[in-house]
Amino acid sequence: MTIAPDFDALFAAASRVQALAYAPYSRFKVGAALLADDGAVYSGCNVENAAYPVGSCAEAGAISAMVAAGGRSIRALLVLGEGEALVTPCGACRQRIREFAQPQTPIAIAGPEGVRQRFSLEALLPASFGPDNLRR
Ligand code: THU
Repeated sequence: MTIAPDFDALFAAASRVQALAYAPYSRFKVGAALLADDGAVYSGCNVENAAYPVGSCAEAGAISAMVAAGGRSIRALLVLGEGEALVTPCGACRQRIREFAQPQTPIAIAGPEGVRQRFSLEALLPASFGPDNLRR
């Protein structure tokens, strides 16, 4: 049985960390929160750097928090950004999510008013390369 993910809880967690994002260069704050297999919610925000390419995305922070706490599987993930457009994960973060999620893992994209659209990981990253590809 699949239990519907509690996107309200993920939105609340993402909202809390979005406010703490370090984004002095883009001035574009992002928060991400995920529900892990251990039942816990992990969150992260973007952390920019004066050496621009060194900055990291909110999704990367949330995944690091999960792994450091012992979690190994993403059940659902929410990204909260600013502006009118959908703040979908960048290409690199889609691959980061892929490492710990399943094709049907739901990914919700939210704005300040709430969830705007839901995708499956498969929809965001079709025909992807993952851990199974390394099995020979
Ligand atoms: N950003 C994220 O943290 N996650 C996304 O899904 C899209 C973009 C960040 C990276 C950078 O700090 C800022 O947003 C502008 O690209």
